[in-house]
Amino acid sequence: MKHKIAPSLLAANFLNLGQEMEMINRSEADWLHLDIMDGVFVPNISFGFPILEAIREVVTKPIDVHLMIVEPQKFIADLAKLGVYMTNVHYEASTHLHRSITAIRDAGMKAAVTLNPHTPVCLLEDIIAELDMVLLMSVNPGFGGQTFIEHTIEKIAALKDIILRKQLHTLIEVDGGVNLDTAPRLIKAGADVLVAGNFVFKSPDPPAAIKALKEL
Ligand code: DX5
Ligand code: ZN
Repeated sequence: MKHKIAPSLLAANFLNLGQEMEMINRSEADWLHLDIMDGVFVPNISFGFPILEAIREVVTKPIDVHLMIVEPQKFIADLAKLGVYMTNVHYEASTHLHRSITAIRDAGMKAAVTLNPHTPVCLLEDIIAELDMVLLMSVNPGFGGQTFIEHTIEKIAALKDIILRKQLHTLIEVDGGVNLDTAPRLIKAGADVLVAGNFVFKSPDPPAAIKALKEL
């Protein structure tokens, strides 16, 4: 399967969101990645439902929501109502992870678990069969524009081993510090979906940046 590109809205120009979304619609982006932060699970606050509602009216690409919040299960029904395609909950924020994943799927969305850089992939052994995707953080969540953590490459390989051993089709998404240096290595290691914030939106030519990642 050809890898997918999911530009992250966090790095977009919030004064020109309409134009930014038209650019995404016309681009080769596969999904749009939305980072929702609560200032508790991560030391930053991003945006919430008012922005999500506005965006889903205009965006034609599937929406990939990355919940960086405590108690993510509280918002599953609201996300489903808005037509979100994929919902990511953090392993570290979910006491009853199986219940949350089941609720996401029962609500009609694809379900993914996100791992912080320090969380080993072996912890997914007993839940991975229920997942459509695993999102590996390649930076500490909370901010765009951070430096890629190299250990992620080994984690992708270890996760891929688990997926193949169990004969699953779980996608592997990577988020943080994706650019033309890291992306080829991530794809080679087994990543299926690359999130890119600054590399796309701070580029002088964002559609070309998306195309460059897509063509790797
Ligand atoms: C970080 C977010 C990322 C962020 C990536 O907490 O989850 O999605 O937007 O930004 P870049 O691609 O700039 O590292
Ligand atoms: Zn993210």
